[in-house]
Amino acid sequence: MKRLLTSLFFVVGALACYAANPTIAIVPRPASVEVLQGEFVLSPKTVICFDDKSLAPTAQFYAAELSDMCGRRPKIASRPIGKSPILLSLDDSFEEEQYTLHITPKAITVEGGSPKAVFYALQSLLQIATDAESSSAAGRLLPAVKIADKPYFGYRGAMLDVCRHIFTVEEVKRYIDILALHKINRFHWHLTDDQGWRIEIKRYPELAKIGAMRKETLVGKYRQSEIYDGTPYGGIFTQDEVREVVRYAAERYIEVIPEIEMPGHAVAALSTYPHLGCSGGPYNVRTTWGISKEVFCAGKETTFEFIENVLAEVIALFPSKYIHIGGDECPKGAWKACKACQKRIAEEGLKDEHELQSYFVRRVEKWLNEHGRQIIGWDEILQGGITQSATVMSWRGKKGGIAAAKLGNDVIMTPNTHCYIDYYQTESPAENGEPLANGRRPLPASRVYALDPYEGLTEAECAHIKGVQVNLWTEYIATFDHVQHMLLPRLAALSEVGWSYDRKDFDDFCRRMNTLRKVYDAKSYNYAPYLFNGIK
Ligand code: ACM
Ligand code: ZN
Repeated sequence: MKRLLTSLFFVVGALACYAANPTIAIVPRPASVEVLQGEFVLSPKTVICFDDKSLAPTAQFYAAELSDMCGRRPKIASRPIGKSPILLSLDDSFEEEQYTLHITPKAITVEGGSPKAVFYALQSLLQIATDAESSSAAGRLLPAVKIADKPYFGYRGAMLDVCRHIFTVEEVKRYIDILALHKINRFHWHLTDDQGWRIEIKRYPELAKIGAMRKETLVGKYRQSEIYDGTPYGGIFTQDEVREVVRYAAERYIEVIPEIEMPGHAVAALSTYPHLGCSGGPYNVRTTWGISKEVFCAGKETTFEFIENVLAEVIALFPSKYIHIGGDECPKGAWKACKACQKRIAEEGLKDEHELQSYFVRRVEKWLNEHGRQIIGWDEILQGGITQSATVMSWRGKKGGIAAAKLGNDVIMTPNTHCYIDYYQTESPAENGEPLANGRRPLPASRVYALDPYEGLTEAECAHIKGVQVNLWTEYIATFDHVQHMLLPRLAALSEVGWSYDRKDFDDFCRRMNTLRKVYDAKSYNYAPYLFNGIK
């Protein structure tokens, strides 16, 4: 109830203030914006001051971000100094991601419930400053304003598949920069799949030589083309690189959640170690898309030994509470024909192969729980039953998430109907010059925006919906320019569902996107043009 009242307060405040304020345009939409009289001059004299040393990294970060707009890199001070300071401080009565941003002619004052909230306040400031076109001889003029803001959902995510196509560390960092701009706080890194194993595991160095490489790649659309490019393709992130990405993301208050796929989507691992499959192979890293019949054998102890050894290295690299263990698209034919799997079913008193999948997931979950972590799995982990502590990522529409919430499990909503940004963006892809993409239905920004993560749930069940996420599968996406084309501006729509669910307004979102577009331009992001051309 308290949350409902607080939300109501924020919504009423927001509506009242937005009506009087056509000029401040921030995405995701803040809870309340009150335009004041006067202007703050952003200039070479601007100093970023903070009163708590935990804010020093954020001060440093924005000194760089605001350099061009100030006319030089602003000085940083651990006490209030100067005539036009940006004052950063913490307020422990605020929630962790809650902030206020108060621009007056004399100062910019930021208060946040944590350094992360202060970071978000400055992302909002960056949008205001980029949008501010007027300037005086002294510097760039920012409109006086009072913003009070906090997010609706605690989990706001974006996934990147680096298995179908791999990207450089610099590109992954740029992806993280883009997430940070949109106040996204989880980067789901899809690291293993049938078409490539992408994380160095010291104990299994052959994964880098065999599992990370495929002989060639399908050209054109899966099931329509039979042409292959004849070019070996692959790559892996070393553990040093992984640590660098995790650190880089943490500096932007983004937690990296690694995904290690099991029991399906395991052909890269099986190609390296054929004894981990039911038939013993040989297997080849897949060169085409779709679902493989070959999966980890659930009967052999050596499978679990391998997985635990891999996860031991993974948890040493990733401090995240959650480890994503996949769980999707695991055909059961190989298990039906496998003596070891059938023996496991008999010995464990399991009803069928669905319960064998549940056995697999529970066993890995138990190991991760014992090592202080929790699992997220795609909604197929519901098959055969799940433990109460597993978080379900609903992707085959919302029904898996609805079922999980009704069971009392936590849920991340990422239905392919609204959140699969590997799908086409317009009704007429050919006419609009869209590159080859997945998906039967177009998924424009308006569709992402329309996501209602609570549909079909009672108020009590809604409490289990922890957040939302977009997923970027990369079967047809080989370059980082193309990644950005698929990501932007649909990520902006998702960010508003995650941050501003209780104050969504698509027309207003489109208006404010014209400002965020200026930030995209300033940073040379390769966003898709459709929304800005009226194709929404
Ligand atoms: C999925 O798209 N297979 C999770
Ligand atoms: Zn087996």
